[in-house]
Amino acid sequence: MIDLTMNEEQLKRTVERARERNIIIPTFEQMKDPEKIPAKIKERLKKVGLWDVDPVNLFRITLACESIAILPEGMSRERFDWLRTVAGEVIATPGSESNVKEIFDKTWELKRTRTDVVAFNQFEEFGNYLWHHEVTGSAIEEGFRLVARPGDEFFGVTFTSGSGGTLAAGDHMKKLFPKSKIAVGEALQCPTLLQNGFGAHRIEGIGDKHVPWIHNVKNTDMVIDVDDADSMALIRLCNEPAGHAFLKSRGVPVELIGKLPLMGISSAANVIMAIKMAKYYELTGKDVIFTVFTDSMEMYGSRLREMEEEYGDYSEVDAAVDFNRSILGLGTDWMKELTYYDRKTIHNLKYYTWIEQQERELEELNAQWYDADSYWGSIPPLAARIDEKIRTFNSMTGLL
Ligand SMILES: Cc1ncc(COP(=O)(O)O)c(C=O)c1O
Repeated sequence: MIDLTMNEEQLKRTVERARERNIIIPTFEQMKDPEKIPAKIKERLKKVGLWDVDPVNLFRITLACESIAILPEGMSRERFDWLRTVAGEVIATPGSESNVKEIFDKTWELKRTRTDVVAFNQFEEFGNYLWHHEVTGSAIEEGFRLVARPGDEFFGVTFTSGSGGTLAAGDHMKKLFPKSKIAVGEALQCPTLLQNGFGAHRIEGIGDKHVPWIHNVKNTDMVIDVDDADSMALIRLCNEPAGHAFLKSRGVPVELIGKLPLMGISSAANVIMAIKMAKYYELTGKDVIFTVFTDSMEMYGSRLREMEEEYGDYSEVDAAVDFNRSILGLGTDWMKELTYYDRKTIHNLKYYTWIEQQERELEELNAQWYDADSYWGSIPPLAARIDEKIRTFNSMTGLL
């Protein structure tokens, strides 16, 4: 799981490097509550852009070390362009979005052939689980308290799964609202959770023909498959001028229309999941579902242009069709409320990826299921211990 053992020699070198490069590490406490970020850093952040490769952007959560990014060649051009600006090296592996096995193979090759490489595999890294449990989870908790009216109930969360990290926010919310539900989403074109299926799809960032090691399957209540055609329709509707005109004619406030580009393809899938969940459980105005926008349209301009080439200019008729089919017309098809054994069936899939291929221990796989409470429950308390180490580290660099 998360190993807090310190290698003193390595620590000395890392402190030295952090000092040289002016790297201060944010604590979980500060990420949960930005008010706690030191004034000096807040001042510096004002002068640093969101996408600048500056260590102070760690406080906005980004990268600041030599890195190799590995991703399938079929991902969007913008994603490659952006990664080339932040990663030292970018390796494209064969296939599309859902070809993650090829990434794992490349990672093993690097681990075996290069001594200078440390692999952070988001699919098995419990720091990913912990971060979303603490930070995304707290943000949702705060968001609910802000929007909830008297009598409202927190019904649940809908998150598509890529690495399974975001789903940890659902674990956090379920502790606060034990009756609430966690839905995991995937593309209908790659229905691994729903049907043990496979396939290529267009919802970048999710659904990889396996179950991530850090997905707490036993705590997951529902699988919702999203037709990638609905996600693609939504991003056209929400970003093309004719789509905006149509939405305006339907009474969507201009201010909200201006914010729609904040929703990328998988974010649209998350919203579609929320609508399907609401229809399935026949929810009313007092039930609140939360989801997240995993990324914005910044990465997908080329996808809009590709659709324009394929289907022609986007008209208000197209917008009306998409609005009625991919929002109002969404139904309760391709989704499943999970029984105990449905969950176990999904959990069992982990065996093939993680035990057979990725050298994980069978004992730990069983602990995830049979000792679920203590296994998953032991992770969140580590945040405070990690924060202590971060504070010590920051004081060793003397930068604060
Ligand atoms: C665009 C996008 N959407 C969704 C996801 C899925 O989130 P998670 O990895 O937390 O399951 C990712 C993450 O990798 C992503 O990059």
